Amino acid sequence: MTNIILTGDRPTGRLHLGHYVGSLKTRVEMQADPMNKLFIMVADMQALTDNAKNPEKIRTNLTEVALDYLAVGLDPSKTTIFVQSQIPELSELTMYYLNLVSVGRVRRNPTVKAEIEQKKFGESVPTGFFIYPVSQAADITAFKANLVPVGEDQKPMLEQTQEIVHSFNNTYGEVLVEPKAVLPPKNMGRLPGIDGNGKMSKSLGNGIYLADTADVVQKKVMSMYTDPNHIHVEDPGQVEGNMVFTYLDVFGQDKEKIAELKEHYRRGGLGDVKIKRYLIDVLEAELAPIRTRREEYAKDLGEVLNILQAGSQSAEKVAAATLSEVKKAMGIAYF
Ligand code: TRP
Repeated sequence: MTNIILTGDRPTGRLHLGHYVGSLKTRVEMQADPMNKLFIMVADMQALTDNAKNPEKIRTNLTEVALDYLAVGLDPSKTTIFVQSQIPELSELTMYYLNLVSVGRVRRNPTVKAEIEQKKFGESVPTGFFIYPVSQAADITAFKANLVPVGEDQKPMLEQTQEIVHSFNNTYGEVLVEPKAVLPPKNMGRLPGIDGNGKMSKSLGNGIYLADTADVVQKKVMSMYTDPNHIHVEDPGQVEGNMVFTYLDVFGQDKEKIAELKEHYRRGGLGDVKIKRYLIDVLEAELAPIRTRREEYAKDLGEVLNILQAGSQSAEKVAAATLSEVKKAMGIAYF
């Protein structure tokens, strides 16, 4: 069966290793299967819901995120890469879906709830931000996506989308497709930051970015949180909670060597600098080709915009077809 897969990212910053292992890699794998049709969206409208006063930030990061996509190997000849705001049909669908969702239901969305608290919005939460789960339902259903690869935190969005699909189909007739979340592979969903403090994130400043130069990657790895009690090389060290080993488990191919290094570290006699040097090699094996491709594309940003424009044009055709079915089903295709 053909899968229609849709996912996207808010362009509020460059993408990092957490995005890479948690989602970008899976997308590239999915893209390789000719039975899959992928739509990857730069969710600039969603990013604007809490950045209305700073559109410049979104505009800049739109190209950064697009560069990250191209750098990891998302291929515009196979995958439709597009920009949310350039598909007006998504906003139209949102307006119709909003009538099927109560304010109370949106308020109970755990992710929105957590974000409102975290951003200290209180009653001054922008209405657009408050209803973004409904707009996300439009993103997904416009393409009749049946699979949506997302992180754990997006599960409530998928549940909300499923409810909207049911409500729409029950009210107006079977038009929309119910999507399923595809969650990241085990242990890949929450790559911790280099400081070991929670998830890798821009706000915590603990990330390694796909755009980081080899120098920056080296410095970041050298500053990584290891075992604070492993002071002398001879000291026995702890592997659990030691970011170098956490990252080696995620990125390293040579599991036997990693097991030996862990043994040696636990016994004592293996210094942090040695394991960090090894991790740098491991990361560079993955990051160097990505960086090279990113630099290539970055030389011609006009071409990157052309890719986004072509993707948006072809995405709009699909969304327009769905919108037209939706309006017919609702009985509002008057003319
Ligand atoms: N909410 C997603 C994020 O925070 C971005 C997004 C917008 C999205 N619309 C989507 C993801 C539709 C999957 C499907 O990055």
